Amino acid sequence: MMKLEFKIADPAVFKTPALVIFLFSDDKPGLRKRPELKGLKRVINPRLKAGDFTAEHLAVLGLFQEIEGGPERLILVGLGPERNYGPEKLRAAAAKAAQSASGYNLEETAVLLPPQWKGLENPEEVTGITALGLRLGLYRYDELKTRNKGKTKPVHKITLIATGETAKSRTAAALKKAEVTAGAIAYARDLVNRPSNMLKPSDLEKESRAQARRYGLKMKVISQEEAKRRKMGAFLAVAQGSESPGRIIVLQYHGAGQKTKPLALLGKAITFDSGGINLKPTTGIKNMKTDMAAGAVVIAVLAAAARLKLKVNLVGIIPAAENMPSGKASRPGDVITSMAGLNVEITNTDAEGRLVLADALTLAHEYNPRAVIDLATLTGAVSVALGNKIAGLMGTDPGLVDKLKQAGEKSGERVWELPLYEDYFDFLKSEVADFSNAGNREAGTIQGALFLKQFVPEIPWAHLDIAGTARAEKSTPDIPAGGTGFGVNLLLHFLYLN
Ligand code: BES
Ligand code: MN
Ligand code: ZN
Repeated sequence: MMKLEFKIADPAVFKTPALVIFLFSDDKPGLRKRPELKGLKRVINPRLKAGDFTAEHLAVLGLFQEIEGGPERLILVGLGPERNYGPEKLRAAAAKAAQSASGYNLEETAVLLPPQWKGLENPEEVTGITALGLRLGLYRYDELKTRNKGKTKPVHKITLIATGETAKSRTAAALKKAEVTAGAIAYARDLVNRPSNMLKPSDLEKESRAQARRYGLKMKVISQEEAKRRKMGAFLAVAQGSESPGRIIVLQYHGAGQKTKPLALLGKAITFDSGGINLKPTTGIKNMKTDMAAGAVVIAVLAAAARLKLKVNLVGIIPAAENMPSGKASRPGDVITSMAGLNVEITNTDAEGRLVLADALTLAHEYNPRAVIDLATLTGAVSVALGNKIAGLMGTDPGLVDKLKQAGEKSGERVWELPLYEDYFDFLKSEVADFSNAGNREAGTIQGALFLKQFVPEIPWAHLDIAGTARAEKSTPDIPAGGTGFGVNLLLHFLYLN
């Protein structure tokens, strides 16, 4: 396990095998805007002048030049132009730095904290994002690798260096947050990356129980049998098709007074989405182990909130099921009665996420929440609209939506609001039932949200469609291909705002 330390020091006289220095591409030779680099100028300046290092985002240059009484090497890492700067840029650059140090097979390295700039005005924020990036850069999913495991030694210790006066207590708090957040993201990624034959709804229950025990969360499980007794027809319409019984996992964290209403966090957890009888084609079915990503995020966030002792009350609801075709599976055209008593015609068994969430939303009311936020890998359409870096956001309460937008900017897990005009609910008209679960391809993400909205009473509600952001196809320094953990940092930042 890598150790992170914080020190106030002059980097030019800090003894370390390597020192990472972040530079903007508009930092000019002379480095007049970077007084903290004074003692290192004579090494860096010639490289900038010669154009050896342009400091474009994620560019790296190792300088193996001993500085007397100081670092044995410098690793320059590019931040790109100052005007493009943001949390996501710094996080990736820090991840790249950790990987470079590992690549040189260094067990130990130091990192000079980058300066503050517009949008990231306080030093604790900069420290937190840097620490998070360093940790994420060393994340790997290797629990199933029996060969070559641990072949390259990752860095064991990183010392973060700040010059001048920085409030140590606040820095310690920022580092603690970063450590817990990195752990929560890694945990969510591990669950997403784990194959569906190794992560059934029952395994999600086990995982939740382990987290609940470890961090002191309350936990309750509604078995598939109990779901039947409680007439959760929408949830069962999905769960019934699988040999692996579904369940609804409820986690509770109490960090505020007994009388404070909780915030409800719902996460779709389809451990495999085959599409059901509307079976997905080869390309569409490939990565459908990812369909429990939102559930993993909710488990990880409740655990992290407990570890950070946040002063909030939370209830996490995770409807876990596998969407499979079988003799017991729902058929297109079937009509089911949801827990709320609404009749839904299942026009497409592949629109299963909204079915399990419908009953989860109804269940959420029993906890008398002040607001409900659901996350789901709900529609392929959201990645057509917003790609794989930005999640879709829809909601009924401008205040709640606004806070999620702010949290998105601060966390680097960005969101964009889509309109929730009722017009498109027409696409979900049914000849026989109250409405159907799937319409046509137009504005598919909004249709999904409008379906969910039918199950929300007059209470602030927001929906995050993370189908585009839950998994990365290509590796970047801070996000290797696979599960991203998207939503963990976003929700934690949302909680900091409350
Ligand atoms: N889990 C999928 C959505 C998805 C697609 C997630 C691609 C990640 C990547 C969801 O259950 C689904 O199948 N949605 C359908 C809805 C349609 C049938 C109304 C879709 O997007 O095609
Ligand atoms: Mn589906
Ligand atoms: Zn799905």
